[in-house]
Amino acid sequence: MTTAQDQTPTTAATGGCPVAHHGYEPFQQNDPFPAYRSLRAEEPVMYDERIGYWVVTRYEDVKAVFGDWETFSSENAQAPVRERGPEAKRIMEEGGFTAYSGLSARVPPEHTRIRGIVQKAFTPRRYKALEPFIRDNVARLLERMLEREDRTGDLVRDLAYDVPTITILTLFGEDIDQIDTFKRWSDSRGAMTWGDLSDEEQIPHAHNLVEYWQKCLGMVEKAHREGGDHLVADLVKAQEAGAEITDHEIASVCYSLLFAGHETTTTLISNTLRMLLSHPGQWRKLQEEPKKIPGAVEEVLRTSPSIVAWRRKALREAEVGGVTIPEGGQLLLVMGSANRDEAVFENGEEFDIDRPNSREHLAFGYGIHYCLGNMLAKLQTRITVEETLRIAPHLRLSDPDAITFGENLSFRAPVAVPVIWES
Ligand code: HEM
Repeated sequence: MTTAQDQTPTTAATGGCPVAHHGYEPFQQNDPFPAYRSLRAEEPVMYDERIGYWVVTRYEDVKAVFGDWETFSSENAQAPVRERGPEAKRIMEEGGFTAYSGLSARVPPEHTRIRGIVQKAFTPRRYKALEPFIRDNVARLLERMLEREDRTGDLVRDLAYDVPTITILTLFGEDIDQIDTFKRWSDSRGAMTWGDLSDEEQIPHAHNLVEYWQKCLGMVEKAHREGGDHLVADLVKAQEAGAEITDHEIASVCYSLLFAGHETTTTLISNTLRMLLSHPGQWRKLQEEPKKIPGAVEEVLRTSPSIVAWRRKALREAEVGGVTIPEGGQLLLVMGSANRDEAVFENGEEFDIDRPNSREHLAFGYGIHYCLGNMLAKLQTRITVEETLRIAPHLRLSDPDAITFGENLSFRAPVAVPVIWES
């Protein structure tokens, strides 16, 4: 079978840009937008031999690939970008690590079967009931930050880190004193799958993934033994009532949701406050017209999505944007670029909370794998903005140009969002 690595680009549009790969650096996330812009204009489907992926940057092409699951499978969505080193492999094998994607890398009919069961348990009713609890958590965390005498804070560490993690642990019936443990496991998951780690650097993460997976298996066993009023217990009850889902599959769903359920929302909350505070006119507008908050969150998802790129694999030879992708070719769909495509979004690089079509962004993917948690993520972000406007409208970014983003192929997360305030 032909692999992407065997291919040379079939596009004729390789010239035109004097900078290699149009300045695109797959793992660098500080400011990828000029490179995206150049790729969209000059080589919208570019084979990047450094990672072995076809990098797709125009809106129409990204959406078309997401929409055609029969040609472009998601089976590579959770594969490690860099092969696991021998020591990491050994640790994971000996630790009984057999985790597989809960949903995003599964394909129909298995994906359809499991998604149907998970959707019945993970209902909006269940998480909307948490709204007052989420609001209290946000208020408590903000008030605690404002008590600091030096009048400085970090919106990632002081607020966005805890809010969605408390929510997801509560939905899974877990004690919230485990936030740091779950964050450590999630960081390892992000780094081991989408990071650029050496064999040596992988070792501590391999230990973390073993612990994380054993915890998920333990949660399923406990739900069988003790029941409860939470998501794992609901999935176990569904199985006992005849739903076709194995214990291993339920543990895999836990493994996925306990990562997806907070990591990207921590980033969305951080980015929302970062973007709004760096546009004081728009921040003030929200104060006067809070009904604009949901639209503002959509605009953040468009311009600064938590996941900038997601993967697919061509099951047969196919064309994308006029370029032939060979059978087995791997694609990197760059939503961070598609979301700024001027063919769809006028002045696409500009942040504008009044934009009429922000909602058309692809930050949550598109098609059969469309993000299951999108409403929960938006609910928590809206509440956070409302409470910040109420309790701390006077926050200011201390040095917006100094904000940096962690290195990763897919996840673009600010390391810190430092703020200051007057009394
Ligand atoms: C800002 C927050 C979030 C972003 C940007 C985000 C983004 C995404 C993206 C890009 C996908 C892949 C879609 C595709 O392949 O077409 C996805 C899938 C998924 N997300 Fe999210 N997500 C977020 C929050 C959440 C939350 C809070 C949860 C759960 C509590 C969640 C659960 C899932 C699940 C289960 C899938 C796989 C769905 C499937 O394959 O059928 N996500 N998300």
